[in-house]
Amino acid sequence: MNESKKKFCVGLGVSGGIAAYKAIEVLRLLQKSDCEVQVAMTKHATEFIQPLTFRALTDSYVLVDDYEPNNPDPIAHINFSQNIDLLLIVPATANILAKLANGIADDFLTSTYLASTAPVMVAPAMNVTMWEHPTTQRNIETLKKDGVHFVEPVSGELACKTVGTGKLEDVENITSQALKLLNQRENNTSIQDLTGESFLITVGGTREAIDPVRFISNHSSGKMGFALAKAAKHRGAEVTVVKGKTSVEPPEDIKVVNGISAEEMCQGVMKELPNATVFVGAAAVADYRPKEIVTSKIKKEKKDSLTLELEKTPDILSTVSKNRHEGLMVIGFAAETNNVIEYAKSKMQKKNLDMVVANDITKKGAGFNTDTNIATIITQENQLDLPLMSKRDLANKILNEVIKLRN
Ligand code: CTP
Repeated sequence: MNESKKKFCVGLGVSGGIAAYKAIEVLRLLQKSDCEVQVAMTKHATEFIQPLTFRALTDSYVLVDDYEPNNPDPIAHINFSQNIDLLLIVPATANILAKLANGIADDFLTSTYLASTAPVMVAPAMNVTMWEHPTTQRNIETLKKDGVHFVEPVSGELACKTVGTGKLEDVENITSQALKLLNQRENNTSIQDLTGESFLITVGGTREAIDPVRFISNHSSGKMGFALAKAAKHRGAEVTVVKGKTSVEPPEDIKVVNGISAEEMCQGVMKELPNATVFVGAAAVADYRPKEIVTSKIKKEKKDSLTLELEKTPDILSTVSKNRHEGLMVIGFAAETNNVIEYAKSKMQKKNLDMVVANDITKKGAGFNTDTNIATIITQENQLDLPLMSKRDLANKILNEVIKLRN
């Protein structure tokens, strides 16, 4: 799922009932209300409506089954569930309510329900007898106790031509209740515990020019650095990022300084540093650059091989650490492929850091260009091993540790 400038990200679950087509209208209304929507369908839902319809409207692959041969993401239910602000199921059949109430996770949507920490809202629709059945009512009670929000079905003529409760609530109403919940939650979770802090964060990968056409760079997307910037801003901090090359856009309302090469990034950082109270080196800075930048395009004529002489770039994190002023907290990342904790701890000592966030980039779901990460947060006193989680959640865990260090 892409980091997006939309306000919210909604996981829209569609289960197999005649009202499945109304999920399309809910999707459109949510999209119009500044939501990115990702769709998960049950197999029965695909009997009523084609995944292609949702794929065309969301521009994303619609998952029905994690085990599908075409599934582009083998741990899709984890990635999907970690990136949504709300799981909204429209329509919710008696069968899906029964599965959710009992923890059955035998398809993508039900696995997502179990794997998600986001709030869940369901809009049931079914035949009146099924709705009133004691089993369904018992499942509804269980789900309500588990914190699931209900948009209750209304009374009217049902698809089976009987009259009674079981008709899906109006799509406008479902959408407005979903948006109300999202906004309420955003206001409640907006703890301003970083007010007074001023974050300076390096983000993305640097580019080191070889000639006017070529450069040396790396796979950094900027997602982790921007997730930190967004979370810190949300929690009341002032945020400035010095950004290299990124594949995603910076969040809104933060100051952005461009620093494409290590040298430019270093200069940008040192200029902004006096105002910072927390420095985070989240960028993948090239360690070496061509010793000379050739001013005109290097031609390959008469050359069977080409040797570039490289020299070290400035180590921005070490430079910041050496020039730290009173009260500045310095945090680094350590992206490793082996001896992760050992290397991370030695970086912490060598660069004199208050905290290092270590990750093994060979692990599935960790490292460059993913929306998730698996990290260990190391401070002088503590080591916090974290499971696979979204970069947004990891950003908040890092910020929690910042607060602890301040105290
Ligand atoms: N870093 C930096 N400037 C550099 C190199 C790294 O600011 N020229 C910062 C990164 O932003 C990160 C930390 O240092 O926070 C560790 O980066 P990493 O590439 O893992 O380690 P290096 O110090 O470059 O050491 P090595 O490449 O040998 O692992």
